[in-house]
Amino acid sequence: MPGRPMVSVEPLAERDIITTARTRTEQVLAQIFDRAPVAGELDAAMRYGVLGGGKRLRPVLVYAAGRALSAEDGVLDAPAAAIELIHAYSLIHDDLPAMDDDDMRRGRPTVHRVYNEAMAILTGDALQSLAFEVLAEARPPRLGAMVRVLANASGREGMAAGQALDLSAVGGRLDVDALATMHGYKTGALIRAAVRLGALAAVDEDDPRVAALDAYATAIGLAFQIQDDILDVAGDAATLGKATGADAARAKPTYPALLGLEGARAKAHGLLDEALDALVPLGEQAFPLADLARHMIDRDH
Ligand code: IPE
Ligand code: IPE
Ligand code: MG
Ligand code: MG
Ligand code: MG
Repeated sequence: MPGRPMVSVEPLAERDIITTARTRTEQVLAQIFDRAPVAGELDAAMRYGVLGGGKRLRPVLVYAAGRALSAEDGVLDAPAAAIELIHAYSLIHDDLPAMDDDDMRRGRPTVHRVYNEAMAILTGDALQSLAFEVLAEARPPRLGAMVRVLANASGREGMAAGQALDLSAVGGRLDVDALATMHGYKTGALIRAAVRLGALAAVDEDDPRVAALDAYATAIGLAFQIQDDILDVAGDAATLGKATGADAARAKPTYPALLGLEGARAKAHGLLDEALDALVPLGEQAFPLADLARHMIDRDH
């Protein structure tokens, strides 16, 4: 049945979308792993990489954007889960020794530390394809457009491109425009896709509200990665659940490295204002998206 809900839960509260959408996301993700595994270790590594941790901000964005355009929660479940599966895969590969070589993620050892590198590579591969399987099986409205949006945001014009720019910039010095471009791909692309997927559950892509949401998502996507860079300098590893000081240790180009902490904070707050301005045409229905933008930029983890 097209757009069938994946779980049966209470409708999301009007305003407290962060908590309610997170809970719903956890339920949907757990349900995805209900099927019996073919390869036990791969399945265990996939569950480890996806379940039990993470702020679930991209799925929350899917629910909040969809609701802002009056989509039913049930048609948002699959796109919300799909974007989190892609994100989880990106983190598992990001932590590999060949990339950022990190030992801690979401408050516990990274997938390649618990399993091994080969299994972590396969886990990312399998999570990526699972994302598309989940989406295709649910058959939400405008499925073809959703698949294109998710694929584009993940690959050579999205996250993977950004990760490649990030790795080739190590030790170099990007100017602020090149840094914004890199962040826009590695992190912004999936955040824009989350918002776009939520919108597509409700309306066609040429609806003018989609352009407003895109402007919102572009601004918060960059602000979110700036805050991630700030927390790597000024955050607390226990609260973050991942190491701090890692960017400087690896000579990564970041906003604090280029503009200083205060400059980076000012840039993130300027982008937050841009995001809030972009929501004005959507009126009250976009209040949860505004709350979410503030939360994403003022967060300590
Ligand atoms: C971390 O993303 C990687 C970035 C793109 C900055 P999150 O901060 O959303 O990580 P989780 O999902 O909460 O662990
Ligand atoms: C990660 O950026 C972006 C992606 C995973 C695509 P970072 O490398 O800064 O993320 P963290 O700090 O390890 O979470
Ligand atoms: Mg990285
Ligand atoms: Mg990293
Ligand atoms: Mg980081």
